[in-house]
Amino acid sequence: MAALKVGFIGSGGMAKAHVGPVKAVGDVEVAAFCDVALSHAEAMAKEHGGQAFSTPKEMFEAVKLDVAYILLPPFAHGDAEFAAIENGVPFFVEKPIGNDLALSREIARKAAEKNLITCAGYMNRYRESINRAREMLQEDPAVLAYGGWIGGSPGPASSEFIGSWWAIKAKSGGQIVEQCTHTFDVVRYLCGEGEEVFAHAAVGFNPRVPGYDIDDASTVNIKLKNGGVVNLMSCCASNAGGGVTLTVHAKQSTFLFSGWEHSVEIRQKDKEPVRIAGEGDIFAVEDKVFLEAVRSGDASGIRSPYSDAVKTLEWTLAANRSIETGQPVKIEG
Ligand SMILES: NC(=O)c1ccc[n+]([C@@H]2O[C@H](COP(=O)([O-])OP(=O)(O)OC[C@H]3O[C@@H](n4cnc5c(N)ncnc54)[C@H](O)[C@@H]3O)[C@@H](O)[C@H]2O)c1
Repeated sequence: MAALKVGFIGSGGMAKAHVGPVKAVGDVEVAAFCDVALSHAEAMAKEHGGQAFSTPKEMFEAVKLDVAYILLPPFAHGDAEFAAIENGVPFFVEKPIGNDLALSREIARKAAEKNLITCAGYMNRYRESINRAREMLQEDPAVLAYGGWIGGSPGPASSEFIGSWWAIKAKSGGQIVEQCTHTFDVVRYLCGEGEEVFAHAAVGFNPRVPGYDIDDASTVNIKLKNGGVVNLMSCCASNAGGGVTLTVHAKQSTFLFSGWEHSVEIRQKDKEPVRIAGEGDIFAVEDKVFLEAVRSGDASGIRSPYSDAVKTLEWTLAANRSIETGQPVKIEG
């Protein structure tokens, strides 16, 4: 069977994170890189092979791809997905899949019309710890969950990081949409769909220098459809520690997740706790599942299709809207 020809749209940090695991799957040809900053695409092509382009349209016209990896900042989505759909190319999109719900719904609708295999980059859905908890929570549903992403203040405005897009709300959507989205998605995967979101934010702790207008912290309450309740916190102004945490309480079990890798301790009454260490190489697991799905045409192994990730985007944008309006926001689902 011929090697799968893969093209990357967005040639920044996440292209670097995925290209190694993609090649490691085997029978894969890294065929193209695309980036609005052509020099980024050229640098990746020089290192990993393939041609470099500055627009998705040019890339799809010049190279007959089997798969596209869309690894763009939240504000930059649309053209890449529509070009992949027009060319009938299955695609992977890094989380968050955008910052515009109507656009993402349109992309999901068009991809479904063409029956395209898609995958969103919610890699925690492939973890053993998460899936053990999910199985147990099907029988014994979550009553309460809380956790979030607590990190330090972003660097000075002159740094590439803050000067690019992360700290500009119109571009990234802010920390809820861009980062804590992982935890919102894990909660959806473990605890089920939501009914309503109510959120508050803190501002003015980090200096509001040009290039920084996101919230410094937020706390988001979510009412689940099963009647359970959730609180998720985000903070990017905690410089003496923090991290990624999630605790889920059900009637018979408590799940204590910790760290980016989502290691878990599962507690049950009168039983020894069960500990499952999180995988360090989770992008490799995710990329293998996706590329094998494309190769076989069987998408059943994909735990986060694009259409599902649209619902996680809805939760996080609802939280932002609640912060703006001071009102609870219903989730349509
Ligand atoms: N799964 C994870 O754990 C994880 C970790 C980090 C980042 N991400 C996500 O991955 C996505 C990309 O993040 P990153 O760290 O690679 O960002 P980055 O800033 O390092 O790279 C983005 C690249 O996209 C390019 N770009 C911008 N607009 C473009 C456009 N319209 N067309 C083509 N290229 C364009 C930029 O020039 C840049 O080279 C973001 O959504 C981010 O949230 C996911």
